[in-house]
Amino acid sequence: MSYFAGIKELPPDPLFGLKARFVADPRSDKVDLGIGAYRDNSGKPWILPAVRLAEAQLVKSPTYNHEYLSISGFEPFLNTASKVILGENSKALKEKRVVSQQSLSGTGALHVAGVFLKEFYTGEKTIYLSKPTWANHQQIFNTIGFKVDSYPYWNNDTKSLDLNGFLSTIKSAPSGSIFLLHACAHNPTGLDPTQEQWKQILKELDAKKHLVLFDSAYQGFASGDLDKDAFSIRYAIDENVLSTPVIICQSFAKNCGMYGERVGAIHVIPSPEANEPLNRAVKSQLNKIIRSEISNPPAYGSKIVSTILNDRALRQQWEADLVTMSSRIIKMRHKLQDLLVELGTPGTWDHIVNQTGMFSFTGLTPEMVARLEKTHGVYLVSSGRASVAGLNDGNVEKVAKAFDEVVRF
Ligand code: LMR
Repeated sequence: MSYFAGIKELPPDPLFGLKARFVADPRSDKVDLGIGAYRDNSGKPWILPAVRLAEAQLVKSPTYNHEYLSISGFEPFLNTASKVILGENSKALKEKRVVSQQSLSGTGALHVAGVFLKEFYTGEKTIYLSKPTWANHQQIFNTIGFKVDSYPYWNNDTKSLDLNGFLSTIKSAPSGSIFLLHACAHNPTGLDPTQEQWKQILKELDAKKHLVLFDSAYQGFASGDLDKDAFSIRYAIDENVLSTPVIICQSFAKNCGMYGERVGAIHVIPSPEANEPLNRAVKSQLNKIIRSEISNPPAYGSKIVSTILNDRALRQQWEADLVTMSSRIIKMRHKLQDLLVELGTPGTWDHIVNQTGMFSFTGLTPEMVARLEKTHGVYLVSSGRASVAGLNDGNVEKVAKAFDEVVRF
């Protein structure tokens, strides 16, 4: 008898499988535009200067050790991480309406949110994801047992936001559904609503009493400015636009370049009014989920990020590092677009510079992407998403010529 009858081997993960193929490729001029991880202008992983300084400071401290954190995580990290996302003067923080829990980066926060909502949310347990979205969103919520649906987001013909489609799905979804929103630097399209569009979207979400779950994985990557990139969240909460609970999943993987350290948090605002007993209950349930899943959160990364956030000079350095990263990406967007225009590559390429954050949704078809990989050693996700952070002065011409070739093929 087989105890695992019916189990099927799954294909490799689209992103990590792509990375494995890239690593195995012997071509010396191969280019990785796959996983969203920042690279410097020589194509190397970049340890942020703020992180290097914080690490040096941390290990010198007489209290430095590798003891367990509490189940909630590192309190100095949580206290400042919540201010990074909600703002120094956040009303919700002042009114003690925010319950924060350290998580295994953004993915861990989303998973904890899902488990929590599955058990306690009394609304409609269908989660709406943007179409398209980060591939893992679907998988996280399917695994937990949610019904997953989608809302239109990207209009492929106009390469712009399908606002009407988005709003009409908000209106037609059963009241009290869950909507997952990318706070900024939408993955994979690099297309964010304007501030006016955000206002419309949030107003409609509230009208239908949907629960909003923000995924904030790229704060600082869209504009280089932490405050600007938090507009959607702060507007929703500070202006009391949402009368429903709000959940924020916050990652420091990208904006601190701490990818493998899994630094993040989940912030739950259970109600628009202060409600101390409810907050305590929510906190205890989040603690229980964390304790049963990972016992207590990892310490090292959160101590580094906390060192940065709680030191004026390091914080300034970090903000400068964010500008270094976001401006290099913007420069590469322009360079790629200029080269494609120079080559007369069929199609329009303005969207590459109009999109924001780490990614460009190039519009290349899966067949073109397959040819890019096979013939040119240029690796992109099959949806046509390119991590612009993988471009540099040394490879952008090769990439433009490769794009040109596959488009004409
Ligand atoms: C990506 O979308 O490339 C990143 O968020 C990496 C990941 O974990 O999928």
